[in-house]
Amino acid sequence: MKQKIIIDTDPGQDDAVAILLALASPEELDVLAIVCVAGNVPLAQNSTNARKIVELSGRLDIPIYAGCVRPMRRSLVTAEHVHGKTGLDGPTLPEPKIELRQQHGVDFLIATLRAAEPRTITLCTLGPLTNVAMALVTAPEIASRVRAIVMMGGAYFEVGNITPSAEFNVYVDPEAADVVLRSGIPITMVPLDASHGVLSTRARLDRIGALGNRCGKAVVKLLNFSERFDLAKYGSKGAPLHDPCVIAYLLQPDLFEGRQINVTVETHSELTMGMTVADYWQITDRPRNVHYLRSADADRFFDLLTRRLARLP
Ligand code: RIB
Ligand code: CA
Repeated sequence: MKQKIIIDTDPGQDDAVAILLALASPEELDVLAIVCVAGNVPLAQNSTNARKIVELSGRLDIPIYAGCVRPMRRSLVTAEHVHGKTGLDGPTLPEPKIELRQQHGVDFLIATLRAAEPRTITLCTLGPLTNVAMALVTAPEIASRVRAIVMMGGAYFEVGNITPSAEFNVYVDPEAADVVLRSGIPITMVPLDASHGVLSTRARLDRIGALGNRCGKAVVKLLNFSERFDLAKYGSKGAPLHDPCVIAYLLQPDLFEGRQINVTVETHSELTMGMTVADYWQITDRPRNVHYLRSADADRFFDLLTRRLARLP
């Protein structure tokens, strides 16, 4: 049964790979739209990036919306140091012809969820949760209409990547993450604990480059750029490939292992702002609101990713 999904994203090289993986999987995924949110780079830039990636994929049927331009309370924190000034540094992609839709991304989320059959749409979030949280605050009744949220974000055993205690997507908008975590919507979280096991090693990138298609070549250039920061920081054999794990989970959930636990986010302390406190050993009686993914099978993940990218132009 095809899954209807909406991708909420702040492209970002890894977001771009996730979008390509989703658009290469039409038998399993009906991508209703892409909604952009301020994160890796400002919204105006990352929504241009989303248009470039959709155009690269050849799937010109996919509508693209711009959502929130800044977090709910805090000032926007971006990550040009990882993703470059454009947020999509690496390949030179042509200026996109497809235009953004006029409707605000949050209004699109609300209208689409109100109109759809209840619990038929999965929200795949690849950036800060601002759009989803604003939709829930504006129209709380949509919480009962969402099938599930699969989010890249958070960290516990792997600790933080933007601060010693917080992962970037949650750190940028911790209040939004708090709204989502308390929403009662079924949530699967792909934290750094899982994505740090999915490394884009040279051999894996060479296999993608050997596909010979424009999307494979673009993915290699994208990841060759964004990996610099993580290789220098972690000294590992490859950079973690975060956002495509969300799509891979929908396609092949058995690539991942996890458990149903409580996850609560810090929204007060400046020292640990945005930290996701995962009650992994179930010490408290807090509600078990998250299916928390702890590990991934990287070889089978890259087999899937490479096979699907081969389908694209
Ligand atoms: O912490 C990793 C996350 O932050 C990924 O979604 C990456 O694209 C950045 O947004
Ligand atoms: Ca992202």
